[in-house]
Amino acid sequence: MSSPKRTDELQGEILHVYDGIEEADNRLPNWWLITFYGTILFGIGYWFYYHEFNVEPTTSEQYVLDAADQGSADVAEEPELLALAEDPAAIATGREAFATTCAACHGDQAQGVIGPNLTDNQWLHGGAPTDIYTAIRAGITSDQALIQGSAGMPAWGPQLGEERVRAVVAFLLSVRDTNVSGRDPEGEIYEANAPSADDGAPVDAENADAENADAENADAENADAENADAENADAENADAENADAENADAENAEGESSGDAPAE
Ligand code: HEC
Repeated sequence: MSSPKRTDELQGEILHVYDGIEEADNRLPNWWLITFYGTILFGIGYWFYYHEFNVEPTTSEQYVLDAADQGSADVAEEPELLALAEDPAAIATGREAFATTCAACHGDQAQGVIGPNLTDNQWLHGGAPTDIYTAIRAGITSDQALIQGSAGMPAWGPQLGEERVRAVVAFLLSVRDTNVSGRDPEGEIYEANAPSADDGAPVDAENADAENADAENADAENADAENADAENADAENADAENADAENADAENAEGESSGDAPAE
């Protein structure tokens, strides 16, 4: 539908009229243009700052870092995770969370789809329980990602919460080395008893503690030896007492016999 061009007092030249709505084409106000182009420039700057050059962590990354800073009580240690992996309730919770949150990328059997197979003994980001925990909790940034063309993995800590992150680790520890066929193994072989690169220091510290503990045990043994001597000493005393008692009995006996004597 076309209509004769006319000039409106307020809008200027009217270009179209659709269903009685008049449309003009005037130059946009400068404040509007500045805001519009400003947001585009800001968006490009933001993209390079946070996502290309990672100058600062994004808010979600910062959230995880802050959570990790809130006392080491939040950060799980290997013995705790291994203990959870023996706990059927934790494994069940973890299996459930895995089915809803992780299976889309890692497969319903954790056999791998876009994300790697989690049932083999090869790991891209470390196979120690604490490495698996950290990968899940803090995610894998696109910079850290090792699969060709992979954008990494989001941090699941904020979404799942500490307890379910640990439960999912327990579940994964319960299925590792089961080699469900799916994605081919990727990354380095992890052997449960060999210290991983990351764990080097703590393992040494534990050994040192173990030595201290032995030293304490040795002291304890010495102490026992002393106690034993003390007991022997007591035993001797006791014998001495017994001996006295015997003497006393002997005396009594004599007394009795002497007492009996008149009766005879
Ligand atoms: C959007 C897809 C996606 C989802 C959902 C996902 N992951 Fe991942 N995950 C990946 C990718 C991709 C990698 C590998 C990144 C890389 O290094 O290239 C990965 C890596 C991992 C790793 C490290 C594996 C290794 O070899 O070191 C673990 C552990 C892991 N994911 C566990 C989980 C758990 C648990 C969940 C659910 C809470 C989950 N993922 C959900 C895509 C996903």
